[in-house]
Amino acid sequence: MRLATALTGTVLASALLFSTVPAAFGAPTKDLPEVSSTQLTEASSMLALINPTTKLSPENYTPSKLVDVAGTGLQLRSEAAQAVEDLLADARAAGHSIKILSAYRSYDRQAALFNQYQGKYGTAYAERISARPGTSEHQLGLAADLGYTNSLSELKASFGQTPAGIWIAEHAVDYGLIVRYPDGQEEITGYKYEPWHVRYIGKEHAKALAESGADTYEEYVKMLAESLKEKKTEATPAAKEQAKVDAVEEKSTKDGTEISSQKTGHGVLKEEDLLVLRFLPPYRDWSFGFTE
Ligand code: DAL
Ligand code: ZN
Repeated sequence: MRLATALTGTVLASALLFSTVPAAFGAPTKDLPEVSSTQLTEASSMLALINPTTKLSPENYTPSKLVDVAGTGLQLRSEAAQAVEDLLADARAAGHSIKILSAYRSYDRQAALFNQYQGKYGTAYAERISARPGTSEHQLGLAADLGYTNSLSELKASFGQTPAGIWIAEHAVDYGLIVRYPDGQEEITGYKYEPWHVRYIGKEHAKALAESGADTYEEYVKMLAESLKEKKTEATPAAKEQAKVDAVEEKSTKDGTEISSQKTGHGVLKEEDLLVLRFLPPYRDWSFGFTE
């Protein structure tokens, strides 16, 4: 069975972008918030990583619940809506006249947008500024585009140099939001600088990311995955002994599939852990099931 058809409501992490992610960062992984492997793979998770080579499965995934962002005709997942409303209220109180330009977008809406850009600029440039359908954070209901109520810098890199753009870059973290496509990180994120696009990941993770030394969300998720792997392989002395026995048993089978025999505890990874870790260097394995 193809992996893509075996999973529902998941994001399929590709190794392609991760291969460009630097290996070492500022904070030791033990200081990071604890996560489970499903938090990194489920589309319904506020931590879901999605990028040009990390597709939603199914591609036309729709969040189970979306709410109106107060005072707009736009929708987001409730936690993200609250965060954006709070940010907008405080930004306005600080004198910045900003609004939400775009929030949740369905698969079909994203397809129409991408096609529009493709027709106008050609495929190569369209891919640098717009996600293909099934790969946009807007489809997760966790991203919003912000801009001045009246401005020529709307959806332009120059927005980052405006007072509102600077305020957003400095304060987004306080609301659990990140400026997802930073300047100079296109090789890792896949997209040109977007100072207007904020993504909700929650206050704990937004703060941890800021303190981690990671420049991008890709880097941060890789750190979380590494930390998860460390936790899973950290074992008590008794469990370490059992793990040795397990290892001998597994070796003796000389059957690669036996390794995912779902032993829990004992410092042995569970199948779900392998799911995420095998997608991330150095655990990636293209023979695992990707056919596209
Ligand atoms: N512009 C961002 C990458 C999107 O289309 O989701
Ligand atoms: Zn956006």
